[in-house]
Amino acid sequence: MSDRATRARSFESVAAEYERHRPGYPEEALRWAAGQLGLERGARVLDVGAGTGKLTRGLAGVGFEAVAVEPGVPMLDQLRTALPEAEALVASAEAIPLPDESVDAAFAGQAYHWFDRERALPELQRVIRPGGGLVLLWNWWNERDALQRELGELVGFAGHDPYRQEDLPGEPWFREVGRTIVEADQESSPDALVGYLSTASAILTAEPEERREMLRSVHELASRYGERFTLSRLTYVFAFSRLPVATRT
Ligand SMILES: C[S@@+](CC[C@H](N)C(=O)[O-])C[C@H]1O[C@@H](n2cnc3c(N)ncnc32)[C@H](O)[C@@H]1O
Repeated sequence: MSDRATRARSFESVAAEYERHRPGYPEEALRWAAGQLGLERGARVLDVGAGTGKLTRGLAGVGFEAVAVEPGVPMLDQLRTALPEAEALVASAEAIPLPDESVDAAFAGQAYHWFDRERALPELQRVIRPGGGLVLLWNWWNERDALQRELGELVGFAGHDPYRQEDLPGEPWFREVGRTIVEADQESSPDALVGYLSTASAILTAEPEERREMLRSVHELASRYGERFTLSRLTYVFAFSRLPVATRT
């Protein structure tokens, strides 16, 4: 497997920790996306790269009927335990086992950057109904916060966005209709930050000694901010409308 492919699937080795330490998505972000795409309660939506179901739960919480698609069986096992009522399918974004035009919208949380875009975008366009859309979300660090700024320098996210503008969906499959950033507070602690970062792909795929040292440094840095602290976190949200494609190849 390539380095990128290894990182894309690295989460499966820590599915339970992922479920324990990663945050969900603010309801405000999901409601904003629903407004952009005109999605009503009861809409059938796909959560692609669903992982342990952090976003799937949010989608169900705002009244959507969510179907989860995720290639990692250990991740999907966590999702099935947490959300036994949700339809959950083992598959990737490049080959979605759903009929043409069968969902009102597709959502991807913290996952789009792992997809093979050339194959995933036509596939997503295929399963979304005409008039529907695609929503991409990323939970991200807020470097206006001193602790997160220091952490960014330490672990390497300083100055980076979670997405690359040139990689976002575009024609002939989708057109961006809006983007926003939702800010929300999250209670945290040195242990919680270490738990979160121990599920980051770059740290999961590092050599064991390097990983231990990095997590030790994170704990030391965070401990300077106290035993408990409030972190302001950012959620980036992008909404795209589905474009009609005259002929499919
Ligand atoms: C960082 S996790 C995000 C999980 C979940 N959406 C969340 O918000 O917590 C990334 C997920 O993308 C999945 N993934 C990796 N490559 C994928 C692909 N080609 N198609 C669909 N999902 C993929 C991984 O297995 C992993 O569960």
